[in-house]
Amino acid sequence: MNILSIIEKKALGKELSYEELEYAFNGFYKEDIEDYQMSSLLMAIVINGMTLEETINLTDIFIKSGKVYDLSSIGEVIVDKHSTGGIGDTTTLVVGPIVASCGVKMAKISGKGLGITGGTIDKLESIPKFNVYLTKRQFLENLKTVGFVDSSQTLDLVPLDKKVYNLRNNSGTTSSIPLIVSSIMSKKIASGADIILIDIKVGNGALVKTKKDANLMSEWMKEIGKRYNKKVVTIISDMNKPLSNCIGNRLEVEEAMRVLKGEKCELFVTSLEIASILISLAKNITKEEATKEVIEAIDSKKAYKKFLEFVRAQNGEISKMKIKANVKYIRSEEDGILVGINAKKIGELALKLGAGKTNDREKIDYSAGIKLLKNVGDKINKNDILATLYTNKTIKLSNDDISCFEIE
Ligand code: URA
Repeated sequence: MNILSIIEKKALGKELSYEELEYAFNGFYKEDIEDYQMSSLLMAIVINGMTLEETINLTDIFIKSGKVYDLSSIGEVIVDKHSTGGIGDTTTLVVGPIVASCGVKMAKISGKGLGITGGTIDKLESIPKFNVYLTKRQFLENLKTVGFVDSSQTLDLVPLDKKVYNLRNNSGTTSSIPLIVSSIMSKKIASGADIILIDIKVGNGALVKTKKDANLMSEWMKEIGKRYNKKVVTIISDMNKPLSNCIGNRLEVEEAMRVLKGEKCELFVTSLEIASILISLAKNITKEEATKEVIEAIDSKKAYKKFLEFVRAQNGEISKMKIKANVKYIRSEEDGILVGINAKKIGELALKLGAGKTNDREKIDYSAGIKLLKNVGDKINKNDILATLYTNKTIKLSNDDISCFEIE
């Protein structure tokens, strides 16, 4: 077996065996296979896809690169959620504290930003001193005591996905159904939860572009769940416009805190839906009963207090988190009605401001981002401020940046 014949086989659209996938991916992990060879194989997978069998096998190879956490010592049903990636999607930081404050434990392994989409690990790392690299002992301890824990992959947990994920981000190979499925499902299986909800985002600002792909992804994720004896539920939600009005790491943490304190925006609606499904499944109650618990947790500030406890338990110092950036504005050039906010263009603009990165030499600026000041449907006057931009870079706004906002 050799890597060139494996790349060529996939370039011809043929199915790779377990042994071939193992040879290529484990070889890359051990650094026997070069980054450029793996990038080439990943691109062949993006173009020609993989079968369900190949995707199941790759998931298994990812899982076996690290440990699998056994959470049975906790003695309770454990839940988890994951988004396939979007713009302004901060649901994890809202859902985790809600669910935990309602007495359901959530154990989560998150990732960094991928392409233009944000990553929960970057958002957590934007909180001064927040520790995303927990040992297994700390992970279990926080799950037991706080009820919500969120960690990055360490050398323990799916380290192979971490390495491949980084290369995908730097090689334009993010948007592939089998690669997304195996990346997410390996983390979900290895971190040990019993009930896993996957929020499949579809639209121009998501990694998944069509409803057809989202349905296929949902089917495959459920099938993988069955093979590992996990209950997998999926929801499919729109990502043609950003989920929240804040895009960028610290801005999104602040937005999550406002929702936990009771602000009723679209981020709240999606978080309510996800939290209600997870609680109803974990407690075996109806979704309506679970929704009542969620509302009570927010109204009583139980969920907000749980967020603060979660941050403290992972050493974060939320009171020290400050947005330090220069401010610029996007103003409307015409009168009319705001009919759309293009998620893809907003994601690209956030990247340009420094909120994400496209290669390993760049550093994320946690203060960078965008605050949207108008909602779809709002009446707009010429010169109205549509968005505030936060950046420490010297940037020149192009027509493309301004065309994030569709005004008719
Ligand atoms: N989230 C992940 O963890 N992996 C992907 O490939 C996409 C989103």
